[in-house]
Amino acid sequence: MARRPYVLLSAAMSADGYLDDATDQRLILSDAADLDRVDEVRAGSDAILVGGATIRRDNPGLRVRSAARRKDRLRRGLPASPARVTLTAGGDLDPAARFFADDGIDKLVYTPAAAAGQARERLGSAATVIGCGDPLSLPRMLADLAGRGVGVLMVEGGVMVLSQFLAARLADEFQLAVAPLLVADEAAPRLLSGVGDVSVLGDADALGDLGGLGDLGGLGDLGALGDLGGLGDLGGLGDLDSPRLAEPRLTGVSHAGRMVVLRYQRTEGTAG
Ligand SMILES: NC(=O)c1ccc[n+]([C@@H]2O[C@H](COP(=O)([O-])OP(=O)(O)OC[C@H]3O[C@@H](n4cnc5c(N)ncnc54)[C@H](OP(=O)(O)O)[C@@H]3O)[C@@H](O)[C@H]2O)c1
Repeated sequence: MARRPYVLLSAAMSADGYLDDATDQRLILSDAADLDRVDEVRAGSDAILVGGATIRRDNPGLRVRSAARRKDRLRRGLPASPARVTLTAGGDLDPAARFFADDGIDKLVYTPAAAAGQARERLGSAATVIGCGDPLSLPRMLADLAGRGVGVLMVEGGVMVLSQFLAARLADEFQLAVAPLLVADEAAPRLLSGVGDVSVLGDADALGDLGGLGDLGGLGDLGALGDLGGLGDLGGLGDLDSPRLAEPRLTGVSHAGRMVVLRYQRTEGTAG
């Protein structure tokens, strides 16, 4: 079995399961305390991956924000922030995006082999482009990252990327921060959408079972927002108790500011 990094998925979603809204403006779900929690996870990672669409839509910097954490990484002989990694098939990435900033941090762009030449032409020296199977193979990408010394890979979205890691059972941990907001817009991106018929991935009876979510007492605060009927939509998470995350277990429920943070971990060996 190929060596691969420990894969930690991280996302923030609304109480009704959306990762963004459908407007042109990026929806900020986390508050300062949660962003600081995420910053700590970033500081403990060797690389951070987002999908090409997230770079185009959100233009994230993906850096460690805390000066103390950056200093601590430098003291440990690491770059101030983790390497930045993305996936693209079409190669429509702007080398002026913050992802590609010339800040001494490695930038890795994985594409299907046939698309690598075009992506190299477009990005020039802004990033290292790696053709990785046709279609792009996530296990091969992970093996390549391991070969580059990446021991912990944090995956920060978006929907398509998170869904693929879960569906391929390539996640070791999932930290899911739930915001006390309801988006209620079917046109908005939603967690686990696009992975096909979920019933084939596990026990259909598990769908809608919210038991696995543990103590969501903090969500009681949502009462102020009105009709909570939409919370039934969280049923999609019930099937995280199915094999999607290779026997995931809810191993922690905590609060970071206004967010309820659910931590799922696989219970078997980490190499997959
Ligand atoms: N709340 C959160 O925690 C959070 C975090 C991040 C993002 N988001 C939101 O998520 C939304 C974006 O999600 P998304 O699902 O549209 O996009 P995404 O997952 O960010 O990116 C999808 C893109 O990544 C590339 N890609 C993914 N898998 C690939 C594969 N196997 N082979 C080749 N290329 C692959 C393709 O890029 P190309 O199109 O370039 O070919 C694809 O279109 C945005 O609204 C963003 O705000 C939310």
